Amino acid sequence: MRQKLILAYSGGLDTTVAIKWLQENYDVEVIAVLIDLGQPDNLNDAYERALKTGASKAYIIDAKDEFINDYIYPSLKANAKYEKRYTLATAIARPLIAKILVDFAKKENASMIAHGCTAKGNDQVRFDVGIRSLNPDIKIIAPMRVWKLSREEEIEYAQKNNIKINVTKKSIYSIDENLWGRSIECGNLEDPWSEPLEEIYKWSKISKNEKDNEYIEIDFESGVPVSLNGQKLKPLDLILEINKIAGSYGIGRIDMVENRLIGIKSREIYEAPAAEILIESHRQLESLVLDRELLHFKYLIEDKISEMIYYGLWFTPLMKCLKKFVEESQEYVSGTVKIKLEYKSFNVVGRKSPYSIYDYNLATYDKNDMFDPKFSESFIKIWGYPYEILAKKGRLNG
Ligand code: ARG
Repeated sequence: MRQKLILAYSGGLDTTVAIKWLQENYDVEVIAVLIDLGQPDNLNDAYERALKTGASKAYIIDAKDEFINDYIYPSLKANAKYEKRYTLATAIARPLIAKILVDFAKKENASMIAHGCTAKGNDQVRFDVGIRSLNPDIKIIAPMRVWKLSREEEIEYAQKNNIKINVTKKSIYSIDENLWGRSIECGNLEDPWSEPLEEIYKWSKISKNEKDNEYIEIDFESGVPVSLNGQKLKPLDLILEINKIAGSYGIGRIDMVENRLIGIKSREIYEAPAAEILIESHRQLESLVLDRELLHFKYLIEDKISEMIYYGLWFTPLMKCLKKFVEESQEYVSGTVKIKLEYKSFNVVGRKSPYSIYDYNLATYDKNDMFDPKFSESFIKIWGYPYEILAKKGRLNG
């Protein structure tokens, strides 16, 4: 009996060619799995294409809710941004895809998993490490790492094998998209000096005028958003709605050069209006309700978590511990954040919470001031002793 292989199928040229190529080169039965994470592709068409190309079975899995609850939310609670900027949409989706593939391999009794990543990117690392962490016995095949086909040869191979795919429509950009963000690379973006053309933007295509602005309010409960402008929304709807509103102002564009795990730098453009707004709002709410020590310690591990998500280290003991820490920190992160949206920018302009530890009477400079100034001098005297002593010994610059 032929061995079975689970293919992470996107419907595009690469993974479609891979169906045939895998059958030819490994003599396997290919089962295509299409995972819906909110990307705009027509999954029903892709499903048909998989079967037409020779997959023995195809599945469409709606994993959007699981994506939000178990991947996006932990990442949001950690205010996760790689190198302080990238909101990690592509990266955070990979462990979930790996998990679904491994589950399917078990269900279908398949001994192999294949994915369409190239040898240059981060995604191959995230898939491979994720899959091996969940099931070390599975053989992983990444056709594009193995076959030595140029793009032209790939198209030729497709034509020879009667694979119908509209390659002329294929854009010069490489795009990865899910509900947390849209990642764009290639084309003129490969020159870090070259300004992105307006045409690459889809989520943040501007339909507002330069003078337009509006306020939105987001309610959070224990670290996650629950309503928009006072209206309770399902997590998916809330994210999509913020993407739409903020995107129309051109908000959520990130243009950066980043350090890939495999040692090279790449220039990437991201569109992530909701992710940007939710992370900033969440962070500002934390500033209101968390004490200084917890907040500052959390900042330290946020960078670590972001890096680990980027590096594909999701199913690891350290990540498990860090996630628990972050989860524990979110108990009182409930309240409302007010955001002003403007042309290509946004700002948090207000925040409130029943758990606020902002004390007006201590903070104010007006007549309600209850801060007793007599304590300050003694406190500072003791706080500054180490430096006073060093200075007396002539060991400070002065
Ligand atoms: N650089 C991002 C990451 O490694 C996105 C990768 C996918 N981007 C793309 N345009 N296909 O997470």
